This record gives sequence, structure tokens and C-alpha cells, in this order.
Amino acid sequence: MLKLHKNNQFGYSVNIIPKEESNYLLDHCKPVLYTSSGDFPTYDEEMYQTMTQDHHRNRLYKNEIKHQVKNKIVVDIGTGAHANWALYAAQCGAARVYAIELIEDAYLQAKTEIGNSRYADRIILLKGLSTEVDLPEKADICISEILGCPASSEAVIAVLKDAQKRFLKSDARFIIDRCVTQIAVCSLGEDFKNNLGICETDLKYLDRAFNFIGKPFDIRVVIGNFPSSWIVSSSVEMENINFNEDLSKSNSISNSILINQDAKIDGFVCWIQLFGSVKHGQALDTLKIPTNWLPVFIPVFYPGLDVKKGDVIKYNIDIFLKSGEINPDYYFYGDVSRKGRLITEFEFMSAYVSEQFRENEFYKTLFPE
Ligand SMILES: C[S@@+](CC[C@H](N)C(=O)[O-])C[C@H]1O[C@@H](n2cnc3c(N)ncnc32)[C@H](O)[C@@H]1O
Repeated sequence: MLKLHKNNQFGYSVNIIPKEESNYLLDHCKPVLYTSSGDFPTYDEEMYQTMTQDHHRNRLYKNEIKHQVKNKIVVDIGTGAHANWALYAAQCGAARVYAIELIEDAYLQAKTEIGNSRYADRIILLKGLSTEVDLPEKADICISEILGCPASSEAVIAVLKDAQKRFLKSDARFIIDRCVTQIAVCSLGEDFKNNLGICETDLKYLDRAFNFIGKPFDIRVVIGNFPSSWIVSSSVEMENINFNEDLSKSNSISNSILINQDAKIDGFVCWIQLFGSVKHGQALDTLKIPTNWLPVFIPVFYPGLDVKKGDVIKYNIDIFLKSGEINPDYYFYGDVSRKGRLITEFEFMSAYVSEQFRENEFYKTLFPE
């Protein structure tokens, strides 16, 4: 049963699924809505634990680190409260590791963890945003896990371009190697739509994101336990970031998606796939394997558009940075056609921070007041 949570500071209300029911939904693998708060500095111990316990993610990163860092100078951007990749790189024989962390509490905890480890003499912890700190020497390897969904949403491109220019030797390598964002069209389940609310446990992260920005806005949302049966189209690549080849991305993407069943569609779903560079290393598809990266839902057609099998959605996505920002905005636009006849056009701005609050039907339903 949905509950309405009132936020007195900003004067808005949000639909929430109470904790007891959220647990039930999670245990029974039912879809659960959260906000995409990882795009903001909202991390706390609970969030770091979720990442530390994400075995699929950890296996991919550890395999990359183990095979690449011996006797190398390493920089770990966004080391987090557990400094896990910095410690593991030192354990695997890195000559020196520079670990950088932006959030004060996480930095302090990382300092304790490194101090209590056997590697304190080889890890230098630095506090601040990587783009604002300097290193005393150039590194051979850059580790980072600041990937969002879409992959570029947590500012990974701007941050790693800066690292490439200021921190790295000309032949330095990035861990991981490549990240692809896939996109498809989805039709949300009726029950989910009729009970549209975020998981109660997500409230504190929503509050932190709004507090960080200083106002409520149409924050991107993600869906845990996303059912593959909700996907009603082919999937295509939306973004392909090849860290070790070319960090400068095209800012505009055009493509077509084929609808493969009659449905009432609500929007796009995007998810990421990660690839390492070590031979025989594993790839990770976050729609198929449960990880801490949840698929993002873009409510372009909400509250629903009837389509038929064989309809074609031509879309464009402009990815751009507002002045002074490092987190991109994504502007979706295009049309839906049936047997070559135009059915409708669409446009939707999925901004890092939207100008307006409750701008479309989806956000008006989620935030009723
Ligand atoms: C997703 S967590 C990853 C933590 C840890 N590296 C791991 O993989 O488990 C990202 C961390 O990077 C930090 N961060 C993000 N961008 C940063 C930047 N440009 N400079 C320093 N820290 C950053 C965040 O505060 C957060 O602690």
C-alpha cells in the first residue's frame, strides 16, 4: 500500500512503498523504484557496503587490477570509504597508489582503513575532487568506478579526460576498459504503475540529493529487479565509452528501435554493460546479472502510448553539458511510425538537475504535491 511522505523543508510530497513491503518486494524479486541518487554525493556506509558486496562487479575489477598493476604507479579516483581498489592494487604489487576521495566522511574512513592495513606506506590518500587535486608524479594505471546509468551520467568522461591530461603517462591504461549503455523500449507492469512510489529506504538519499542541489527536481529513477518481460523492442547501443581508445564521445546519437509486440509503452530503459581488457576476463551485463547498477527508466511516453508489433521508433539523443557542469544532460526526441506513417513525435529532457519540478505526468504521479 502506498504512503504519502511529506517533506517540510521543500514542501513537496512523494509516494513511498513502506519498508516492510519494500523488503517483501525485494525478497520476491518484484520490481522496486529508487532514485538515481548515486549521481550526487549522497554516499553513506550502507551504499559503500552494497558496492563492496557486489561480487560480480568486484570480480571484474579485481581481475583487471590483478593483471595490470604490478610495479606500477596507480591512481584510484573515487576510492570510497573502504579504499577497496587502492588496497587491492597495493596487495597485487603496485609500487605506489594515489587514492582520491571527495566526500569527507568517506575520506576519513578510508584513512583509517589504509592506516590499519599492511599497505599504508604505499598508499597516499588525497581529499577532494580529482579535478582539483595534483599528483607529485604521473601514473601508469587509472582505476575508477564512477559509472552511472547512462554510463556517462556520473561525470566519468569529464573526470577521466582531466586525469588523462594531468595525472597519467602517455601510455597509461584505464581500469575498466569499456562501458556500453544499451537502450530499449519498455512497458511497465500495471501493478507497478498503479503503485508508483519509491522504496522507503531510498528517502534519505532523495533528501540528500535535493539538499545538495538546494531544491526538489525531477531526479532520474532506476528500477531494481527489472523484469525482462517489460522490454517490448529490440535493444541498441546508446553510448559506447572506450576508455583506452577514445575518451571524446560523440554528443549526438541517432538510431531506430523496432517494437516486437503490441503494447502500451511508457518509455525507455537503459542499462550498462562493462568490459575488461584482460584476456578471458568477463563482461558484465547489468540487466542479466544483479549488480548495484540498476536500469534507469526514462518516462518519455508515460502514462502510455499504444504501439503495435513492427512499429519503428526513430530517436535522437543529444548529450550535452550545461555551462560549469560535469554531469551531462540527455535530450531524447524522435518519432514513432507504423508502416512508414507517422503516429506521433516525442521529446523528453532527462537532465542531471531539471529546471522544473513535476514537469511531466510521471513526476506528477510520483510527487503528487
Ligand atoms: C561508486 S563509488 C566507488 C567507491 C569504490 N571505488 C568502489 O568501487 O567500491 C564512487 C566514489 O567516488 C567518489 N568520487 C566521484 N567522483 C569523484 C572525483 N571526481 N574525485 C574524487 N572522488 C570522486 C564518490 O564520492 C564515491 O565515494
